[in-house]
Amino acid sequence: MLVNAKKMLNDALNRQYAICQFNINNLEWARFILEECQKYNTPVILGVSEGATKYMGGYKTVVNMVKGLIEDLNITIPVCIHLDHGSSIESCKKAIDAGYTSVMIDASRYTLEENIKMTKEVVEYAKKNRVTVEAEIGHIGGSEDGIEADILYAEVEDCVKLVQETNINFLAPALGSVHGFYKGEPKLNFERMQELKEKLKMPLVLHGGTGIPDDKVKKAIECGICKININTELQTAWSEAVRKYLFENFDVYDPRKIIKAGEKAMKEVISMKIELVGSANKR
Ligand code: 13P
Repeated sequence: MLVNAKKMLNDALNRQYAICQFNINNLEWARFILEECQKYNTPVILGVSEGATKYMGGYKTVVNMVKGLIEDLNITIPVCIHLDHGSSIESCKKAIDAGYTSVMIDASRYTLEENIKMTKEVVEYAKKNRVTVEAEIGHIGGSEDGIEADILYAEVEDCVKLVQETNINFLAPALGSVHGFYKGEPKLNFERMQELKEKLKMPLVLHGGTGIPDDKVKKAIECGICKININTELQTAWSEAVRKYLFENFDVYDPRKIIKAGEKAMKEVISMKIELVGSANKR
C-alpha cells in the first residue's frame, strides 16, 4: 500500500521506535527492500535521491516501478516513496506530480529565511496532494550524490522558527551525523536532540544512518528520532558480495545472477536495521 509518511512516523513518535528509510538505486534494490520489510511486517520509506531518480529514468519510472512491485509481489505493508534531499522547489513539485508520497526539501545551504520561504512553498503544494514534507536545518556532513558538506549543528531556535512557520511534517536537524563513513565515533548532540523532541513534539529524522553504533541509534530514538536514513551500508554490503561472487565466478555474464549475488548481504543489513529500530509488526 503506497502511503505518505505521516501516520507511520507519528505512530513511531508515540510508541518510541523508528522507521527505516532505505535508499534505492534500481529495481532490484526496491524489490529486495520490499520483500524483506514485508517479511518483518514493517512500514518502510524508500528514499530516492535526485541522482538515483535520474539514474532510473525519472520520477514517473520510479513511481510506476514501485507500484508494479507492490502489486506483483503482494506487498501489503505501508510503503512511502520519499524524495531524498530535493534541492529545489521544482524537483519537489516534479516528484509530487509523478506520485512520490513524501518529499524532502533540502534548502539547508541557504539562509534561514530563504530555507523557510522555499520550504513553505513546497509544503503548500505538497498538502494539496496529501504528500508529507521533511526539511533540513544545519548541515549533515560527508558526501552524498556527489555533494560534500562539513557538519554544522542545527540551533534549537532556528528549528523552532522553521517548524512554526512552515507546517512541515518532520524535521532533519543536523546534530553531528554524516553521510557515508564516520572518521572515528559519531559526535551526536543528544542533549539538543532531546530539547528538540520536547519543544517540537514532531518526528525527527537522523540522516547518515551508516556506521552509527547500535547504542547511539537506540539513544537517538529515545531522544525523538523516528526516521533513520540508511544508504551507504546497503551499498557496501551489496558491492562486497557482488565483488566476491565475480571473483569466484569469472565466467558468469548473466546480469541477473550478478545483481542477485548481493541480495542476501543486503537483506541481512535490512533485517538487522529493522530489529535495531524496533519497527517490526508496527502497522
Ligand atoms: P548513509 O549513506 O550514511 O547511510 O546516509 C543515508 C542518508 O542519510 C540519506 O539521506
